[in-house]
This record gives sequence, structure tokens and C-alpha cells, in this order.
Amino acid sequence: MKKRILEILKTQNEYISGQRLCEELGISRTAVWKNINSLKKEGYVIDSVNNKGYKLLMSPDHVSEEEIEKYLKTTCFGRKVVYFDETDSTNTRAKEAAADDYIHGSLYVADAQTAGKGRRGHSWGSDKGINIYMSYLLKPDIEIGCVSRLTLVAALAVAKALREIDGLDAQIKWPNDVVVNGKKICGILTEMSSEGTDINYVVTGIGVNVNIRDFSGELQDKATSIWIETGMEHDRSMIIGSIANYFECYYEQFEKTGNMEALLDEYNALLVNRDKRVIVVSKDRTEEYTAIALDKDGGLIVRDDAGETHSIISGEVSVRGIYGYV
Ligand code: BTN
Repeated sequence: MKKRILEILKTQNEYISGQRLCEELGISRTAVWKNINSLKKEGYVIDSVNNKGYKLLMSPDHVSEEEIEKYLKTTCFGRKVVYFDETDSTNTRAKEAAADDYIHGSLYVADAQTAGKGRRGHSWGSDKGINIYMSYLLKPDIEIGCVSRLTLVAALAVAKALREIDGLDAQIKWPNDVVVNGKKICGILTEMSSEGTDINYVVTGIGVNVNIRDFSGELQDKATSIWIETGMEHDRSMIIGSIANYFECYYEQFEKTGNMEALLDEYNALLVNRDKRVIVVSKDRTEEYTAIALDKDGGLIVRDDAGETHSIISGEVSVRGIYGYV
């Protein structure tokens, strides 16, 4: 009955009276009211007005293969989706799937993660129903030394997709954090399995803060979400689809060479560190430079105070702004 009420509400642009619902469905007013309440509990926003009836204002964003598919323009990225209500980590699920025959571009998505992984052994907060937690399983035809650049490609795809949302000025903090207003909105973790110089598979995990409304502790100053920046809820499936479209397109260009040459202009146009003072922290020292641009090998070109340029390699160092994260 709930499903039928929902179908009717979805076809109506105006309020539909309780009386009409009773007549069409052959049920009592109390039964209509109970079902409407149950839909509201599932996340449907239904306005009820005396003498007018009910109107569906918003449906919850259920992430599913069907929902994601509606937004895809790809040939393989996201064409196979494996969805979990809850799992430990989508990266782990994708790696596990790689043991069998798998389709390049398969996407592992979860509504919640119980052991979300960040870079450098950190954890990644993964509350249920509000953000995007997803991992691509890829079989790139590139040299093994080029694999880490895939994270830059993914960052560019996420930044481009987020910039399509009204009012969201997404940029990239080298190498692969996507930031808005100086705070991190997306993190990317790429993991690889190889034998000698042969790549078995690559998993690129992407976490995007979508509808989370606040962060606790030290994250408050460093992290943001689409909701925090726009004051509006956004449909996660639509964003997943949009990221897939950009990611496939950039991936295809990248795979031809294994370097960033074809994507340099677009990446550099969004590089938040560009022309900014940055602190480069390596194992044994901390130095200050001016960041200039990404180079085709994925390094960050920086200028020292004597005017000499250097290329900083990701993985060996971390970079932050002189006043904080960016
Ligand atoms: C970072 O530290 O910036 C990287 C965070 C990557 C988080 C994503 S969420 C989906 C995928 N599954 C994980 O366990 N981690 C990545």
C-alpha cells in the first residue's frame, strides 16, 4: 500500500487530498495517514496541509546501481556497480573482487563503512547515508611507475564534477585532495597489486563529503561538505554518475601516455596551491617554497627563495600552506 501511495504522490505536482487517496486505494483515512507517516520515516519529505492534502516535496537519495545508471554517459566506468548497505572498506571489497575475473571500471559503493581507510594509515569517517564511499577496480595498461598518477586523474575528475554543483568552487590541493574554501571535501586512496613490473590491478577509493552537516574535533577546521558549502542536500547517485563520466574521460586520455601531459592545463587551472607559499615536509627537513604548477610526471614544481625551481615528488613529502592546510 505504501508503494502505491508513493506512486500516486510521484505523479502529482499538486496536493492530493486524503479523501481522493482513500477512494483510489479503497482504504481508510487512518490507513493513508499511517502510510504517509511511515514514508516520512524513510526520508520522504511530504507536506500535509489541512483541506488540501499531501504533496511529495523530496525523495531520499537511495544509492543504487539503477539510480547511478541514470546519470552515466560512460562505456565502462560504473557500468557494473556492487552496492553495500554497510561494509568495512570499499577498497577492501574491490581488492577482494580482483581475485576473480573482474570488469575494468567496476565500482564498489557503500552507504556506510565500518573501517574506512585514509592515506598514511589514517581512518576515514564513514557515517551512514550521508556521504559517498566508493572504489574503482581498474586494470590500467601503463608502466607500473605511473600508477600513483591515477590519484591525480581521479582528483581532477572529482573537482570537475563538484564544480557542476551551483556555488561549489572545488579546487585541487596537490596531489589529490579536493578542497572548497580551503577545506577538504574529498580524499582519494589508490592501492595497487603487482608482480615484478606487472600490474595485477589498481583500486582507486574516493570519499566525498556530501550531506554531512558538521564535523567534530580537529576536523572542524579542516573538512567541509557539499551541504556545509551550499546549505542544501544533494543526490549522491547523481554525483557518483558525474564523477564516473569525468573519470572515464580523463582516464582514457591519461592511459595513452601514463603521464599527465594531456590533463596539465585543466589540473593546473584548479590547483589551489598555485602561486602560494607552501611548506614541504619530508622525513628529515621542512622547507618553504612558492608552488608553481603540476608537471607532466605528477610532481609539483616549486620555486625556492633563490629563484631555482624543483620538482617535488608526491609520496616522499607532504605539502601544506604556511597558514595551515591549504
Ligand atoms: C585520504 O586520506 O585523503 C584518503 C581517503 C579515502 C577514503 C575513501 S572512502 C572509499 C574508499 N574506501 C576506503 O576505505 N577509503 C576510500
